[in-house]
Formats: sequence, C-alpha cells, structure tokens
Amino acid sequence: MQIPLYRSKEREIMDQIDSEKLKMFSFLLFSKLEGAVTSGMVHLGDQLGLYRALAAAAIPLTTAQLAHVTGLNERWVREWAYNQASAKLISAETTPSTSPSVSDDKFSLSPEQVAVLANADHPAFGVGMFHRLPQTMEALKHMPESFRTGVGRDYDSHGPEGAVGIERSFEPWNNANLIDTVLPALDGIVKRLSAGANVADIGCGAGGAVLMMARRFPASTFRGYDISAYALARATERLSNSDITNASFHDPRVDSLPADHSVDFISTFDCIHDMTHPTQMMKLIRAALSDGGTWLLVDIKAHDTFALNAQKNPMAPLMYGISVLSCLSSAMSSPDGAGLGTLGLSPATAQQMALDAGFTRFQRLNVDHAVNAFYEIRP
Ligand SMILES: C[S@@+](CC[C@H](N)C(=O)[O-])C[C@H]1O[C@@H](n2cnc3c(N)ncnc32)[C@H](O)[C@@H]1O
Repeated sequence: MQIPLYRSKEREIMDQIDSEKLKMFSFLLFSKLEGAVTSGMVHLGDQLGLYRALAAAAIPLTTAQLAHVTGLNERWVREWAYNQASAKLISAETTPSTSPSVSDDKFSLSPEQVAVLANADHPAFGVGMFHRLPQTMEALKHMPESFRTGVGRDYDSHGPEGAVGIERSFEPWNNANLIDTVLPALDGIVKRLSAGANVADIGCGAGGAVLMMARRFPASTFRGYDISAYALARATERLSNSDITNASFHDPRVDSLPADHSVDFISTFDCIHDMTHPTQMMKLIRAALSDGGTWLLVDIKAHDTFALNAQKNPMAPLMYGISVLSCLSSAMSSPDGAGLGTLGLSPATAQQMALDAGFTRFQRLNVDHAVNAFYEIRP
C-alpha cells in the first residue's frame, strides 16, 4: 500500500497554525482527560459510599461531616468534593473561609443527583457503569498487543468485579422495566410465560433477567447461558441465595443449547455484539426455538455507518471507546472473531443476520431506552 508521507513538509504545517484554534483544540483534548479523571472520582464516590452519605444527609454537609459519616480522611474527601462540585456532579454552597485549611463549604445532592448517583433502585441510576472502571482501564495495558495481533480478551479478563459491574450497569433499568414494559410489548409472551414455557436467556451475565422472570413466572422454566465463569458464579450465588426453583445457569460450551426447537422464548440482552460468532449464535437460537417461538433481541442502538453514529449519537465517542476496551475486545477474543463491537448491530445488520439465520419476522419494539433497541424476532 502506497501512503504519501508529509514528514518533509513539517515546518510548513507548523507555520500554518492558528493560535486561537490551537488553544481551542488543546482545551478539547484536556476536556477528555478531565472526563477520564472525573470518572475515576465517580468510581470512588460510589465505592467509598460518599454519594450515599450525601444522599442520606438531611442537610448539606461540610467535608468534615462527610468524612465523619463515611469514616474517611477529611483532606482526601475535601479534594474529592472539590472535583465533583467543580464538575457539577454534586451541589456546593461555598462560603469564603478565613482559614485555608478548614472548609466551611457545604455539599449536597439534588433529587436528580440522588437518583443517578446514589439510588441503585432508580431506573436512571448511572454509577453502576463506573463500577468496573479500573478493570476496563486496566485493559489498556493489553491493548497494544491486541492492536498488533488482532486478538482481544473476553469478559472474564475483567475479573469478578467485571461481572458485578455489568450487573450494576444494566439491572436498575431492567428491574423497573423488563416485566412491566418489555415483556408486554412482545406478542403473547406474558400469557405464555404465565401458562408455563421453556425459556433461555443467552449471554445472561450475572443472571438478573433470569432471576426476575423466574420469580414472576413460576410455571415457566428458565435457563441462563454465559461463557463467563465469573458471571456464572455470580448468577449461581444469587440463585442459591434466593428461593427460586425454576432457574439454572450453564456454560453453553459444556451444556449446549438444545437444538430440537424445544424453547418457547429466548432473550439476549446486550450480548450479541460481544460474541465472536454472532451469526452462528443466531443459527443456534433458531435451532433451539420452537416454530411458534419468540426471540427478544436487545442490543445497542446503532446506525448503519460511522458517519450516522457520529452525527446522531452524542455518546458515539464513549461507545467506540468502550468497544475497544470491552465489546470489540470480546467480539475479537478468538482469532476468527466477527468483531461487531458496541455499535456493530444496527437494525439493518441485525435484520439481515436474523434472516440469514432462518428467521422470517423482524420487528422493532416501541420501547424507550437511552442506549438500547428492542426487537421481536420470530421464525
Ligand atoms: C455486556 S454483557 C451483558 C450481560 C447480561 N445480558 C446483562 O444484560 O447484564 C455480555 C455478556 O455476553 C457474554 N457472552 C459473550 N459471548 C458469549 C457466547 N458466545 N455465549 C454466551 N455468552 C456470551 C459475556 O460473557 C457477557 O457476560
């Protein structure tokens, strides 16, 4: 491949620099670094209980009070609070202090900040997404090798906390919407699950959807499948701590999906784009599903091209970045991986792949979600 090289014109390019544009571009770059380090502080705010302490307080707290109720060192808490308040993630009442070492500034959370930062039961809870930040960033160390060889790393490379992080990322919305909004949007599924159906959730992660559906529909039988040992261990632990008797969890490489059209309902939540062989998985889903069965495909809202994603999705940089560190890495974790990645399953791609796998009906559901699209796919 012939690539023109401009090295000889370097001086000419330097002469063309516009100082105002240079300043703005440098600001843009460092705003990304600000986002990265503030994300680290969000992780700490969650892990150290700082958000929960602010949410529980009846009055705005000084950093001395916040340090006291969390059992932490005031000086560190103060620096954290300054980061969070200047990033506008927590609210601050500032007062000019006479002493530089003692702060009278007070910090609190608005109701919206409580929902997103501190209330894991709220569907808008967002801090779960920051749980596995250290593990995700740790992946950077392995990225040069992956960029050279083309081979990525699966979800277990993020360790046990990776599985907990996925659980905390997706479950707040699912807990509020899966039973009451998503399942009723599917033709006849609630009725079938109530009567007793054979169900599989593939890429089940820590098992939240399986456990929730199994509890709600005791006449049905639920099997969760995942290739992550950490996710399966977490799911199995949660199952054994519950009184649920109609659910189980499996590694499909050991205990494969039935290929006899015996499953009535299959769900896949945010996992097809992570798979090394998504086409093969769709064929396995078709072989498992009865002719009258339904596949609920939930995957990231994506457009067909990079240009459309960049234009229409304000979170496109986040999506492409997390893809490199997590989704694409998983989807390329074998040398022949298809490598769809986070934004790889647009509606058109999903539909074509489903048709190729032997499905004939494909419908996007009217379910509103910030990042996910929902599809009912039938033989
Ligand atoms: C982003 S997580 C989603 C987990 C879960 N569905 C949820 O919503 O919390 C993607 C999951 O797909 C799993 N996965 C990837 N390839 C798989 C495969 N071939 N078969 C089953 N699970 C797979 C990963 O191990 C990971 O747990």
